[in-house]
Amino acid sequence: MSNQNDAGKITIERLSVTYCSGGRTTRAVRGCSFGIPKGGIVGLVGESGSGKTSALMAIPGLLPTGTLVTGRVSCDGTNLAELKEEELAAWRWRRIALVPQGAMNSFTPHLTIGRHITEVLSHHLKMPIKAGRERAAELLETSGLDGFLQARYPHELSGGQKQRAALALALACEPDFLLADEPTTALDVITQKEVLDTIVKIVRGRGMGLLLVTHDLPLAAGICDELIVMKDGEIAESGPARQVSGNPQQPYTKLLIDAIREMDVAR
Ligand SMILES: Nc1ncnc2c1ncn2[C@@H]1O[C@H](COP(=O)(O)OP(=O)(O)OP(=O)(O)O)[C@@H](O)[C@H]1O
Ligand SMILES: [Mg+2]
Repeated sequence: MSNQNDAGKITIERLSVTYCSGGRTTRAVRGCSFGIPKGGIVGLVGESGSGKTSALMAIPGLLPTGTLVTGRVSCDGTNLAELKEEELAAWRWRRIALVPQGAMNSFTPHLTIGRHITEVLSHHLKMPIKAGRERAAELLETSGLDGFLQARYPHELSGGQKQRAALALALACEPDFLLADEPTTALDVITQKEVLDTIVKIVRGRGMGLLLVTHDLPLAAGICDELIVMKDGEIAESGPARQVSGNPQQPYTKLLIDAIREMDVAR
């Protein structure tokens, strides 16, 4: 089913995510609605456990089997829940790509970085291996790495290089939207800034839509057009980034800003 008003946009309506495991249920996301326009950068911020990853992973339908998901996620008006599994798999690479939380640790150890990328190009775009290797070098260079690094195994790259390689992999099929879950959290502050600058440059240059998950509200405010503040699975506050960070309306948003500022002073 298609809705013309949703063109060029991911729309999340009344999303709820409830995990059911080990006889326990956890309501991780509770009735959240927001949009990610193509050409826009939306920051999803909140403390650990507030439901950021659960909300992000619900978009491409990548939550664990048995998780109860209600609400609607659509892209360009297409309800993603109505796609067949193989159609959704194609969308995940070609339309909505993902840099998952802890991406730097999710490479397969015995495959080179280049092989990770060429397999995606071969599977989703039917690209022959030789052309794939050339494309992999281009993708790594776009992501700020030397193309020759494709011959390396994941353990032969630094954390920052692995994060950039994860970005190159996500960009392999030229998606319209990127979902990046804490893409720089495990990095030192200088490398964090460099990797984020690269992501923003690529996203802005290509007119992509970006959902950036981070716990660092001031950092997100400097990059994003819109900010969504999550608390206990709900949206505590949302709006233009400058407004949310410069004139927060909710005590929780102020708390998040102050907590990061205090950490910065301590550093
Ligand atoms: N696979 C799962 N099974 C059961 N509960 C889960 C699962 N994944 C997350 N949760 C629970 O859902 C809640 C939200 O977790 P989520 O990972 O979405 O938070 P987050 O905001 O991304 O946190 P962080 O900043 O630490 O990454 C937490 O209470 C968490 O324990
Ligand atoms: Mg998370």
